[in-house]
Amino acid sequence: MLDDGLLSKLPEILPDTCPASSYVVISDSVVAPLYAEQLAKRIAETAPTHLITFPAGERHKTRKTWSTLTDQMLATGVGRDGAVIAVGGGVVGDMAGFVAATYLRGIPYVQVPTTLLAMIDSSIGGKTGVDTRAGKNLVGAFHQPKFVAADVASLETLPPNQFAAGIAEGIKHGAIADSAYLTRVMEQHSQIVARDPDAVISLVARSIEIKVAVVTEDERETGRRAVLNFGHTVGHAVEAASGYSLLHGEAVAIGMAVEADLGTRLGVTEADTVDVLRSALELFGLPVSVPGDAKVATILAAMRYDKKTRDGAIRFALLRRPGEIARPGDGSWTHQVDEIDIGASLERSF
Ligand SMILES: NC(=O)c1ccc[n+]([C@@H]2O[C@H](COP(=O)([O-])OP(=O)(O)OC[C@H]3O[C@@H](n4cnc5c(N)ncnc54)[C@H](O)[C@@H]3O)[C@@H](O)[C@H]2O)c1
Ligand SMILES: [Zn+2]
Repeated sequence: MLDDGLLSKLPEILPDTCPASSYVVISDSVVAPLYAEQLAKRIAETAPTHLITFPAGERHKTRKTWSTLTDQMLATGVGRDGAVIAVGGGVVGDMAGFVAATYLRGIPYVQVPTTLLAMIDSSIGGKTGVDTRAGKNLVGAFHQPKFVAADVASLETLPPNQFAAGIAEGIKHGAIADSAYLTRVMEQHSQIVARDPDAVISLVARSIEIKVAVVTEDERETGRRAVLNFGHTVGHAVEAASGYSLLHGEAVAIGMAVEADLGTRLGVTEADTVDVLRSALELFGLPVSVPGDAKVATILAAMRYDKKTRDGAIRFALLRRPGEIARPGDGSWTHQVDEIDIGASLERSF
């Protein structure tokens, strides 16, 4: 469900959408005072409700936090007839979702995303989990929320760089599936940046449709879901090589620019695609070049490391043109690419 002002209506719709004898609201230290405390108070008027928080930030998306949160839940005595409500960005959603997936072998949960990225990306699809020293999101579970409630009014307090990072994933959705949507996002740039509710709702709604369509077809990522990784093979490596000083969406913006160039180099992507993508990203102040102090060798090493911990090959979802994925002849959705070509596209992107 998506609306302007939805948070205030959530306590009334909760009994129908996620009935439970008690609720545990999980949030982080930034979002709790902004939204979660008040929400928990309102829900407590009709059912026993606990609020549990953890320190904000990716570096707290760990098994340690999971263990603290599950201990705190056990202490509240919430049983299998309880439910979790995740209020926050993607870190809270992934963390609280994983707590819900594992607490008493799994209880229902609701996602209340409060970042643009969480609204259009992380709250949809049922992937939950935590980071480990070996890499991001390596321990987790598939656990679908009963319900997602995105209130665009909660984006008012989001810092501009976090907002833009979310737009990067929206541009990705347009790039992989809908060029008209990509054009619309560019045309409505000023309304979107001003966080005009109608413009933001329209963006979130189309992005959700695209992600849902892809995920419904391939929930466990054995095929088409890989197209959502456009920009992410390079993006994850650039993010890691920056020591996580780049936001995920910023790294993905750079990744999309580099991967569009790579596709062109391989003769897979039509030549003007890179320019279209770069203009869209730059409109929203997103970076399109690898930071000057990064080293190609470090980025390639991060990619190799990622490959070792994931599926054993460096594969790319590549575009044919904006709005269309280029599929290789073998029926898969991704292309295996030589490191020399990746290195050449990285070199050009500084
Ligand atoms: N499960 C998935 O499919 C999936 C997909 C994409 C990303 N992710 C994960 O999502 C995470 C990134 O999510 P994110 O970008 O939302 O980061 P985040 O959750 O860290 O939120 C960014 C910052 O904004 C703060 N914040 C959140 N909402 C706010 C608001 N309304 N007003 C003011 N501040 C607010 C947070 O406290 C945090 O400090 C990563 O861990 C990534 O791995 C998961
Ligand atoms: Zn992403």
